[in-house]
Amino acid sequence: MTKAAIIGGTGIYDLGSQIRNQPISTPFGQVEVTVMTVKDSSKEIVFLARHGTEHSTPPHQVNYRANLWALHHLGVTHVFATNAVGSLNPKYKPGELVIFTDFIDFTKNRPSTFYDGAEGVIHTSMADPYCKELRRIIAEQAPRHGITLAGEAVYVGTEGPRFETAAEIRMYRQLSADVVGMTGIPEVVLAKELGLCYAGVGIITNWATGIAHDHRLDEIMEAVDRNKADLTNLFCHIINTIDLDQNNCHCNQACMKM
Ligand code: HPA
Repeated sequence: MTKAAIIGGTGIYDLGSQIRNQPISTPFGQVEVTVMTVKDSSKEIVFLARHGTEHSTPPHQVNYRANLWALHHLGVTHVFATNAVGSLNPKYKPGELVIFTDFIDFTKNRPSTFYDGAEGVIHTSMADPYCKELRRIIAEQAPRHGITLAGEAVYVGTEGPRFETAAEIRMYRQLSADVVGMTGIPEVVLAKELGLCYAGVGIITNWATGIAHDHRLDEIMEAVDRNKADLTNLFCHIINTIDLDQNNCHCNQACMKM
């Protein structure tokens, strides 16, 4: 059974030998995933291009429920996600990587739950939205694969597709956010509702609006490309080496029926 998935925006596609493209019908619509073998292993891994195979779906129209439902349907228990983000924190620069520890939700108009009432009233704990155990493993393994994580980050999710105003970014900074993006929420919430272990790494592509620092765009894009390839290798290595049947976390106990 396929137990691990990588959800990416663009460019994280070189995962090894491709097995098959698989369309999956979900109650929320059709999804296409690519199932591949992990390099140097017989384990299967699912790759999901968040914006669709043609990269044509804007962040506010991504069918997050269909995407997560499809992964769950395939038997996936562990999800490794990457998200492009802007930085609000002078400590974290474009071209660098951060690992998400928590989020603040400023999305406005997205279906963001599987629990609309048919199953009764269900509340999902967001005490640890990003799997603590996967975060620990990623932080431990990254340096061994030549990857520097600049640090931990609180992610603020905005609706998009417009960028934020400078005043909004000042407010988010006061609220303790480190990075801002349009694609992380409700993905992490839906993963938790399904009891999945989900970790997210932010690829910093720019300074958020109004945060003015010098940077060279060509150098940033070079770093972003390098990071995507390095992260793919790191995720593959982790999937290859950890026991996906063993959970040292509480991700699959986050839902409470009231
Ligand atoms: N704002 C929102 N989403 C983003 C940004 C940003 O500055 N950069 C990359 N994704």
